[in-house]
Amino acid sequence: MSATNSQKLKYLSGLIASCQKCPLYQTATNPVPGDGNPEAKIVFIGEAPGFYEDEQGLPFVGNSGKLLDKLLASINLKRQDVFIANILKHRPPDNRNPEPAEIKVCTPFLKAQLQVIRPRVIITLGRFALNYFFPEALISQVRGQIKKITWQGIDSTFIPVYHPSAGLRNGSMLKSLQSDFITIGKFLDQK
Ligand code: URA
Repeated sequence: MSATNSQKLKYLSGLIASCQKCPLYQTATNPVPGDGNPEAKIVFIGEAPGFYEDEQGLPFVGNSGKLLDKLLASINLKRQDVFIANILKHRPPDNRNPEPAEIKVCTPFLKAQLQVIRPRVIITLGRFALNYFFPEALISQVRGQIKKITWQGIDSTFIPVYHPSAGLRNGSMLKSLQSDFITIGKFLDQK
């Protein structure tokens, strides 16, 4: 009998918890592998754990997470319906930006998680997640656009949006996020 998605994701979480490929494990309190439905059709990908995520070992549980919950609720989704992960699995000190070397050694975990879940829809939150898939893309130019992709053999629909923390800082980015979630909701309704 082959392992379930849940078992495979737990195995990956174990590897993440013992990873020492970059120094971030030294300053982090907990790894934040990702959380949600192992059979999800939709995966959201953020940047890196912040203070509360590091404290709890769960993604998007701070202020950005509260906004993400509201955006999900606006299109009738709950966390249990989706899987939420990050580019980095350990918190960068003082919430600084991920460094290229950290992204390089950490993203094989995200890739492995996506290969387990094989989501039909990938939503990237912010530029670091967008640029993992499309290194040259500018978020201000492509946000809210629906793109069919085949990535690592996974046929998926890709929709990049601003990071919720940008929406918390800037009213016009919040409006963009709200309208891009309407786009996501309409797309899901058609399926
Ligand atoms: N910001 C992110 O990108 N990820 C989290 O998990 C929390 C805040």
